[in-house]
Order: sequence, then structure tokens, then C-alpha cells
Amino acid sequence: MAFDFSVPHRVRSLTDCHNVADFRALAHRRLPYPVFHYIDGAGDDEVTKARNTAAFDDVDLVPNVLAGVAEIDTSATIMGRKTSLPLMLSPTALQRLFHWHGERAVARVAERHNLWFGISSLSSVSIEEIGANYAGPKMLQYYYHKDRGLNAALVERAKAANFDAIALTVDTIVSGNRERCKRTGFTTPPRFTPSSFMSYATKPAWALNFLFRERFSLPNLETHVAEGSGKAISIQDYFNEMLDPDMDWAAVERLRADWGGKFCLKGVMSTTDARRAADIGCDAIMVSNHGGRQLDGSRAPFDQLEEIVDAVGDRIEVICDGGVRRGTHVLKALALGATAASGGRLYLYALAAAGEDGVERAVTIVRDEIARGMRLMGVKSVAELNRDVLRRR
Ligand code: FNR
Ligand code: LAC
Repeated sequence: MAFDFSVPHRVRSLTDCHNVADFRALAHRRLPYPVFHYIDGAGDDEVTKARNTAAFDDVDLVPNVLAGVAEIDTSATIMGRKTSLPLMLSPTALQRLFHWHGERAVARVAERHNLWFGISSLSSVSIEEIGANYAGPKMLQYYYHKDRGLNAALVERAKAANFDAIALTVDTIVSGNRERCKRTGFTTPPRFTPSSFMSYATKPAWALNFLFRERFSLPNLETHVAEGSGKAISIQDYFNEMLDPDMDWAAVERLRADWGGKFCLKGVMSTTDARRAADIGCDAIMVSNHGGRQLDGSRAPFDQLEEIVDAVGDRIEVICDGGVRRGTHVLKALALGATAASGGRLYLYALAAAGEDGVERAVTIVRDEIARGMRLMGVKSVAELNRDVLRRR
């Protein structure tokens, strides 16, 4: 029987996964639905999440041929660290809820591929463990809490663990409206409600790992707050109750001075803010709308990228964060002038679906897509990617 590519193929195992969408399908099969929808979900009507990826389809690549691309160099330098790809693994919370390997798996894969990766303030593996066990370039994604003691502790712990950068997230001054999580009752740690209990019970592999392996906690936070570790709370409530809505540029300047190392703002979308970030001495900005999970209706990072690069690209590194699902998305972002692209779900579905083996396969697939795309573009290094090879439709 000839393979009918016109119908959705079934994804049953890791070997059926050939792209990020396949990993999403496998994660959907293997996760309790509250956990899957926490990863997959976004704000309000999820219009921005969809546009984040669709935006890449509005530009076309114009290849050059016969360029002699037997040998190519896919490397990039991001915040002073040379990495094998112009791609960062964005910081994402609660990873041991997705798969018991959690952040340890992502760190191992990032180190093997020599890629930047970020651990969230809400990571389920400690700053110290990541710092002690993984030599790759790593950033602490920083949430500015109401608890000043916690704020200071996070900086000191990142310094002591020799982290390479802090990325302060600035687009979560209040939580986005996460309606899927309202429906499923998702919390950290999970609260098993009558409606969600069956979902957890019908995913025995996930449930057994959650119940009988290392207790789930948020080790970077539980020194100061119970919420998220011992006290179940939704992410929406965590943001609105625990993060400081008074965070302003003065607080950012103090934090940057306290840290003293490479410093990035994550969640900048306007040229005004991009210029301000450069003015106060930030090393990089992540042009990002938090994967569409915050302000639905916000512009897509790729749509906003050209304006930002034209405003500050000669002063500060610009990372295009969000919607990336293919290697060609990375190439398009670089051609517009980004220093790099970054993504969360591009590896998170794979982590949830198959732990470290999943993340390894996903990163390898995207790496191969970047290299194949460069060769078919007639590009031997990322420096050759520029607006001459792009056309808007
Ligand atoms: C995130 N993201 C995120 N960002 C952040 O600054 N701190 C965090 O703790 C998290 N946690 C988190 C969890 C999950 C499940 C997702 C999907 C995302 C946002 C993340 O860093 C990144 O900005 C987006 O994931 C980018 O969009 P894509 O690549 O997922 O489309
Ligand atoms: C989220 C937070 C944790 O987007 O950043 O879920």
C-alpha cells in the first residue's frame, strides 16, 4: 500500500517523530491533559501563539546555487559564547512535571550540542545542580518577586553556580489569561481534582514516575516561598500573587548592576524599550511575547524583528524568541538581522514525549534542518544570511 501523505499520519513512538509537530502529537498521547495543555496553551484565544509561527510563512527565502557548500559553519556567538547553532533553548518552567528527566535532560542535550539553554526561576532542578553538572552556556531566567530576599538569593545563587547570563523576564507584570489551565485546573504541584484525576490515572507511566520518583519541587524558590512546591498554585495566581507589579526600569538597572555579568531582557517588543535596554547596558534582548502566553493580540516576534533590528541591531544582540518550529524559521530570523533565534515548545514537546531521547532527537532534527537549509540557500556561514535572501510576499 502506497503511503498516503494526505492524511495525518499516526505518531506512536519516538521513531515516528520527524518534526516538532510529531513530538506534539506524541506528547498529547503520553501526557495527562492538564500537563499537555499547560505546555500547548497560551493566552485568551491563542491568536498570537498561532501568528508567532505563521509569521515565518509571510517571507520566502531566495536561494543562491552552485556556491560550494560541502563545508559549512553553522556556529554563532551569543552573549560572548560560541555555540554550534544560532539557536537557544528558551527557559521553561516545571520541566519535571512534563517528564521525570526534566531540566537535567535539556541540560545534557544542550551541553552535547554546545547550545545556550536557560533554566527558569521556576525550574524543578536547582541552580546549583545545573551549575555543577553542565558546562554549556547557561542562563538563569529571572522572575522579579515581591520577596526581596528571594530576589537577592537568586542573584547570589546564579553567581555562585557560575551561570553565564541572567535573562530578566519583563512581559509577565501580570499573568496572561490561561483559559486552558482554568478549565483543566492545572497547578504546580498538580492538584488531582475529580475531573482531572482520571486523566492522570490513565497515563500510568507519567503517574508512576510522578508518584514514586524524586518529589516534585521548585528548588530555586522553596527556600523562600511554599507556593509552587508544597502549596499548589496555578501559574496565573503565582504571577499575580508572587511577582512584583512595581518592577520598573530603575529595578532593572539595580538588578543588572547587582548581577554584574551578561544581562538580557526577555519579552521586549517595542523599539522604545529596545533602545532603553541598549541605553542601560543590556547585552541582549529576547524579542518575545512569551510564546503567546501573555498578551494575546501582541505582535509576533518575527513580525516585529525588522523594526527592532533597525533600531538597535548595531548596539545590542537581538534574539527572536517564539514560534520557531523549523530550521528555516531560524534562517529567516537571522536573514532579518537577529543574532539568534530561541524556542521553548520546539524541545518541550519532545521532552514531555520521550525525555532526554526526545530532546536529543528534536535538537538533532532542527540542527539538520538548519544545515540543510543553509546548503540549499547556498550559504556557508550564518554571517552570509541577510535581507538580500528574503522576500516578503
Ligand atoms: C514558557 N516560557 C517561559 N518564559 C520565562 O521567561 N519563564 C518561564 O518560566 C517560562 N516557562 C514556560 C513554560 C512553558 C510550558 C512554555 C511553553 C513557555 C516562555 C518561553 O521561554 C519562550 O518565550 C516561549 O516558549 C517561546 O515560544 P515557543 O518557542 O514555545 O513557541
Ligand atoms: C509560563 C510561565 C511559567 O509561561 O513563564 O507558564
